[in-house]
Amino acid sequence: MKPFRITLTVLAFAALASCSTGNDVERRIDKLLSKMTLEEKLGQMNQLSQGDEAWMCEQIRQGSVGSILNEVDPAAINRMQRVAVEESRLGIPLLPSRDVIHGFRTMFPIPLGQAATFDPDIIREGARIAAIEASACGIRWTFSPMIDIARDPRWGRIAEGFGEDTHLTSELGVAMIEGYQGDETSGNATMAACAKHFIGYGAAEGGRDYNGSPIPMRTLHNVYMPPFKAAVDAGAMTFMTSFNEIDGIPSTGNEYILRDILRDEWGFDGMVVSDWNSAGEMIAHGFAADDMDAAVKAVNAGVDMDMMSHTFIGTLAEAVREGKVSEKTIDEAVRNILRLKFRLGLFENPYVDEKYAAEIQYAPAHLAAAKKAAVESAILLKNDGKTLPLNSVRSILVTGPMADAPHDQLGTWSFDGEASHTVTPLASLRRMFGDKVRIVYYPALMYSRDKNKGNLARLTAMARSVDAVVAFVGEEAILSGEAHSLSDLNLKGAQSDLLRAAKASGRPVVAVVMAGRPLTIGRDLENCDAMLYSYHPGTMGGDAIAELLFGVEVPSGKAPATFLKDAGQAPFYYNHNNTGRPASGTETLIDEIPLCAGQTSLGCTSFYMDSGFGPLFPFGYGLSYTTFEYDGISIDKEEYGQNDTIHVTFTLRNTGDYDATEVAQLYVRDLVGSITRPIRELKGFQRITLKAGESRECTFDLPVEELAFMGFDNQTRVESGDFQLWVAGDSASGDPIPFRVL
Ligand code: NOJ
Repeated sequence: MKPFRITLTVLAFAALASCSTGNDVERRIDKLLSKMTLEEKLGQMNQLSQGDEAWMCEQIRQGSVGSILNEVDPAAINRMQRVAVEESRLGIPLLPSRDVIHGFRTMFPIPLGQAATFDPDIIREGARIAAIEASACGIRWTFSPMIDIARDPRWGRIAEGFGEDTHLTSELGVAMIEGYQGDETSGNATMAACAKHFIGYGAAEGGRDYNGSPIPMRTLHNVYMPPFKAAVDAGAMTFMTSFNEIDGIPSTGNEYILRDILRDEWGFDGMVVSDWNSAGEMIAHGFAADDMDAAVKAVNAGVDMDMMSHTFIGTLAEAVREGKVSEKTIDEAVRNILRLKFRLGLFENPYVDEKYAAEIQYAPAHLAAAKKAAVESAILLKNDGKTLPLNSVRSILVTGPMADAPHDQLGTWSFDGEASHTVTPLASLRRMFGDKVRIVYYPALMYSRDKNKGNLARLTAMARSVDAVVAFVGEEAILSGEAHSLSDLNLKGAQSDLLRAAKASGRPVVAVVMAGRPLTIGRDLENCDAMLYSYHPGTMGGDAIAELLFGVEVPSGKAPATFLKDAGQAPFYYNHNNTGRPASGTETLIDEIPLCAGQTSLGCTSFYMDSGFGPLFPFGYGLSYTTFEYDGISIDKEEYGQNDTIHVTFTLRNTGDYDATEVAQLYVRDLVGSITRPIRELKGFQRITLKAGESRECTFDLPVEELAFMGFDNQTRVESGDFQLWVAGDSASGDPIPFRVL
């Protein structure tokens, strides 16, 4: 991956700065800055959301707006751009932006679903397509990827990121950035990416959105920061601060993370935007006294552009006059903003072709890629008696509130995806298989929160008249995403009853779960023979699921976030540190504890009396219609120097009846460190496609330097000592192989 990444990054910058070289750009910025009044500089630092166009245009004409967000009509964007370029004093173009999170019109699976593909290529392609569609409308900056590590599925925004693992999030985040920002052939069809939310937002206490994130400093560096460092190295053009505070300091006012780490240590020369009103919200946090104090703290900490708190435009001129912020600091911020506009070629090409903007949406190649992503993102969690694929059925009952829910299957952050263009599973099953299989449709519940059990007896009766039941359950789109945290992760409404009613028919039941997070589906597993977890699969989810159900495609998705038995286990993640009393798996659970048992802590371990210790399904888990065996896993040496690369070989064998893809995973454990280390950490993964019966010699190359972490003395380095390594199909399987780093 590495050489490719570096090449793309260099190319991206070359392309984006194609209007002129870096030095030319800096000279042009100098020239512009020398002409700008303080008010015009603050105007560049101000981002406004779509509103009354006449009013917006007046602000733009006065030079009070640097960027707009949420306008997607290319004609309106052109009109506003024309005011900026032709009617404002300095003619500086606007930077139009939007939350293009998992597609623009053609919606891909939600990012958590995309993460289940473990496929950087499809993620890069999805982001490229999003950039093509959105930039055609004039949107040149997206607030994506969200690379927050999320270890708690109660947090609704787990849907928007790549799950719980640092390595996976880093790799997929980089792929997404590369896709948005393009390469030298991408021309104007690029968007600046935005690595967000810097930092620690995913660790919201209790999974409650916007809450403080209690992250210890070394954990911040070892777990939460690497995806952001990778984003800088990949050339991410912008960063967004996060809403949360860590240890008393809101991110938007955190000089340590925004200046010491991001600028000084990582050398970021892009632009930093606040989150929506996160500067102003520092007042509610109790970190800033008033608007001016908030703006001063944000800009001094290193925020360049204010998203919608209006505190910069409203107070910073006065703050500069009072000496609370230096004009040099303002100039630096404006320089970062102008550099971005030059790199995007906005000065040369501010307008878009409105006709092309309409033509390019939903191009056949875009839909094909969205379908591929949806196929790869589905995880097979259960398949008793080879219920799937539905090879020999002649009739099915399609039921459940998600079978034909075009809006909801798009998931969170699908502002521009359209239900009218969405292909639902019901429509696809009828279109693709309706001539071979009798398809009966009876939803029984109208939406995922529907509690009405009145139709369930009829459902059972109808199920008896078919060969199999396919029940589409899950979450409506609005039940996950920003500000949509949950404390109970069971299926909502009467959906578990629906599965029970289907099972009561005695027919095989396939559950397809379309959701924004890993729900606690343990009790529902009892009421189905097979379960396919598709997350919210996007525009083409219907075709993807239909083909998976009938074996045209074979599931290959793997869990990017642990499936819990019970929400009470959260936060839960596979790469935790050991306690001094790790669970053994032989703990006495609640029903076995004798009455009037005397209290003892001797021999006790870390577990829950009711849900035990382990998860329902571990990180990395996912079945296939075939089976895979790992054999002969070996490494080339027993001891490695700090600059060595560990060469791992193994044989992967497809031992079943289907051609299929396995995601092989490489895990490592550092046995003794200057600080305690995770019991396993993902260090590599690859998708390997094998024909039925085929086996292949495969390799992983792991540079020893990737074992580095911030240790006791706050230095990041590889600590010598004993390690273990696994190659397996999930985070809980395989046998450890020992090695030593000198
Ligand atoms: C708030 C969200 O936290 C952020 O992710 C998003 O980009 C902005 N709103 C803009 O919509």
